Amino acid sequence: MTLIWRALGTLLLLVQAAFGSWWNLAAPRVTSESGNSSLETVTTLHKEYCHRLEFLVERQRQLCMLSDKMIQVLQTGAVQAVEECQHQFRHSRWNCSTNTNPNSTDIFGGVLKFKSRESAFVHALSSAALAHAVARACSRGELNECSCDARVRKRTPRHWQWGGCSEDIRYGEMFSRDFIDSKEDKNTDEGLMNLHNHEAGRRAVRGRMQRVCKCHGMSGSCSVRVCWRRLPQLRLVGDALTTRYEGASYVKRFTLQIVERKRGKNIRKLRPLHADMKKPNKTDLVFLEDSPDYCEPNDELGILGTRGRTCNRTSAGLDGCRLLCCGRGYQTRVRDHEEKCRCRFVWCCKVHCELCRSKRDHHVCN
Ligand SMILES: *[C@@H]1O[C@H](CO)[C@@H](O)[C@H](O)[C@H]1NC(C)=O
Ligand SMILES: *[C@@H]1O[C@H](CO)[C@@H](O)[C@H](O)[C@H]1NC(C)=O
Ligand SMILES: *[C@@H]1O[C@H](CO)[C@@H](O)[C@H](O)[C@H]1NC(C)=O
Ligand SMILES: *[C@@H]1O[C@H](CO)[C@@H](O)[C@H](O)[C@H]1NC(C)=O
Ligand SMILES: *[C@@H]1O[C@H](CO)[C@@H](O)[C@H](O)[C@H]1NC(C)=O
Repeated sequence: MTLIWRALGTLLLLVQAAFGSWWNLAAPRVTSESGNSSLETVTTLHKEYCHRLEFLVERQRQLCMLSDKMIQVLQTGAVQAVEECQHQFRHSRWNCSTNTNPNSTDIFGGVLKFKSRESAFVHALSSAALAHAVARACSRGELNECSCDARVRKRTPRHWQWGGCSEDIRYGEMFSRDFIDSKEDKNTDEGLMNLHNHEAGRRAVRGRMQRVCKCHGMSGSCSVRVCWRRLPQLRLVGDALTTRYEGASYVKRFTLQIVERKRGKNIRKLRPLHADMKKPNKTDLVFLEDSPDYCEPNDELGILGTRGRTCNRTSAGLDGCRLLCCGRGYQTRVRDHEEKCRCRFVWCCKVHCELCRSKRDHHVCN
């Protein structure tokens, strides 16, 4: 009997250890044990460092070890994903808060254990942010494995020519797929959901690549126009994924799915939970479960609840007091507010302003 319990305990421990994702690299506490977290130390010991990141699976460790720069790129991707998530969710009940429970193996606490809409968003965004960070590092010459995208030059347009450094989103995507997708098992419904959302995230970057051009030639003649492809700002990608998040598809779990057989293989496809809902395409986000309650604090899941959050009294949206405070009501406090005012232009070339003080209402959820 005790043996069984012990085995079960080990199993639970394993499950817990496997939880937590690469985005934990955004957490400042992920540092070497010696207590010396200076970047230099980390990079000289990069293999050892990658090895110690218990939330990475084997393939992710291998990729992390490729070069000392890789950890920094991974870290950049993770930090940017978290920052963008916090920006996009700043008015929501769950505001993408991190490090809420010191016991948790994931920087988001346990919130993303739910296969929820929020989980879909974070997976898509982090996959996009990694593709973005890698492609950016390539064009800056920071990685040995890649540089500028040489392929675009094969297509020769008529009125302008390729030049400069086109950012290599293909490589970024390939890396993101190799790194992030390696953790997923497509034979589970959660794996299938994550893989779909990762791909949607990467497509949100690829679909927003921009072409920028510069004129050359005799002053202003623009006889030669040289163009290259540039990554979109991550903010644009975040905005797009937020729109997808709002329209995300609730899909069926494996037990409810109909399995198709094609060429002797079982094919499972993500189908909407209700027949009248639109089938998700490759750019849509999909989720499998309702979200947990974000209104009340839950230490175990790392949910802070919305008490004390600032709300907008006149807004009917998510940031409005009615929705954000979950019906508990709010308090109005008067706050001193300072801003620059009565600005005037002083020849030449200064702007002089006065400081105006006023009282402003500030609403806080009960
Ligand atoms: C950490 O490493 C840096 C660079 O190697 C060194 O200058 C510094 O003294 C170290 N700090 C500690 C607390 O060991
Ligand atoms: C963290 O773990 C300790 C020891 O197991 C426990 O006492 C504490 O309540 C936990 N904290 C949270 C926020 O779950
Ligand atoms: C996928 O569906 C969304 C709406 O959910 C639509 O806006 C988009 O154009 C579709 N994309 C493709 C490639 O069909
Ligand atoms: C999220 O909301 C909590 C209050 O519930 C607040 O303490 C925290 O600073 C917010 N985090 C971010 C990133 O806005
Ligand atoms: C509050 O919401 C209203 C209506 O949506 C908006 O016009 C206003 O700018 C918001 N105020 C703040 C401080 O965000």
